[in-house]
Amino acid sequence: MSKPIVKVAITGAAGQIGYSLLFRLASGEVFGRDTQVQLSLLELPPAMKAAEGTAMEIEDCGFPTLAGINISDSAETAFSGINWALFVGSKPRGPGMERNDLIRDNGPIFISQGKALSRAAKDVRIVTVGNPCNTNALIAQHNCRDIPATRFSAMTMLDENRAKAQLAKKAGCNVGDINIAIWGNHSSTMFPDFENGTIAGKRITDVITDRAWLEGDFMKTVQQRGAAIIEARGKSSAASAASACIDHVWRLLETTPKGKYFSCAVPSDGNSYGVPAGLIFSFPTRSLGDGKYEIVKDLPLSDYSQKKIEATTKELLAEREVVKELLVK
Ligand code: NAD
Ligand code: LMR
Repeated sequence: MSKPIVKVAITGAAGQIGYSLLFRLASGEVFGRDTQVQLSLLELPPAMKAAEGTAMEIEDCGFPTLAGINISDSAETAFSGINWALFVGSKPRGPGMERNDLIRDNGPIFISQGKALSRAAKDVRIVTVGNPCNTNALIAQHNCRDIPATRFSAMTMLDENRAKAQLAKKAGCNVGDINIAIWGNHSSTMFPDFENGTIAGKRITDVITDRAWLEGDFMKTVQQRGAAIIEARGKSSAASAASACIDHVWRLLETTPKGKYFSCAVPSDGNSYGVPAGLIFSFPTRSLGDGKYEIVKDLPLSDYSQKKIEATTKELLAEREVVKELLVK
């Protein structure tokens, strides 16, 4: 029996990230070479023509896994019957800005898109990429009454990939040997947990004994990488963000191997590491396969780690306070 078509909506499809993401979704890389993918592109009216151009290029790749592409400037139309919503469409920050400086411009997008999703889709999982992604995911989730909160996530996979790249260079190992998770917000307060992480099954802190580097350059590089890319490129990360989004979806679909975890910002269940219920918080997460996940429990936290987690929690609570009018109770 042939597998059902997977329907994926991408908002902001004509943007930088969209341009890297769409081709990889269509290619069979994420959902498998035996699965057809229907792409649904959502854009603002002025960018519809550019979205059409991108769609032409996707068709021209001749991917056997592409079932079709539809393009719309109506969220409800674009989200009709979808299985995955990749919320990318929103303004990126410029030099000198923090991601949460975007809240007032980008937050409202996620009210209308959350409402449209609630009306248009049922069996859907949501990945929020547009910044500030944790709080935007919170807004979308609150405005999407008919879809369980656990279906919503925000992307910290790019931060995990960045952390792995830095650690691999320092330890002289392959990134595939590293297991590490990001805690908290996709912001400069995020905490890449080098105390619980491992390299080829050994503690990172046993392989890299230079603690000053781990607490200093390593943390700073990961936390500030987005800003460093904006400074160097004049634009925010795009191909690496698209790649992380592919990893995020794929990691949720594949049962996580024993002893491993990955970074995913999901609604706190209120029983994990003192993080208040409902905050969209990046935890070490394991997939149970087919998109279902669990937060990894009972990782030991030193005073140092606990303080880092408290700082990023505090920032997310402050962001929630700023957008409280946008959250439906
Ligand atoms: P971009 O400006 O190149 O593209 C954004 C696209 O979104 C544009 O085509 C725009 O027309 C569209 N758009 C804006 N509002 C929309 C709406 N209401 N509905 C549909 N489409 C809409 O930006 P980009 O570089 O692709 O980045 C997109 C977002 O992703 C930014 O907020 C950026 O900060 C964020 N980002 C997040 C991460 C992460 O790790 N979470 C990484 C990189 C970028
Ligand atoms: C990133 O981490 O590269 C993105 O969130 C873009 C940004 O604003 O830093």
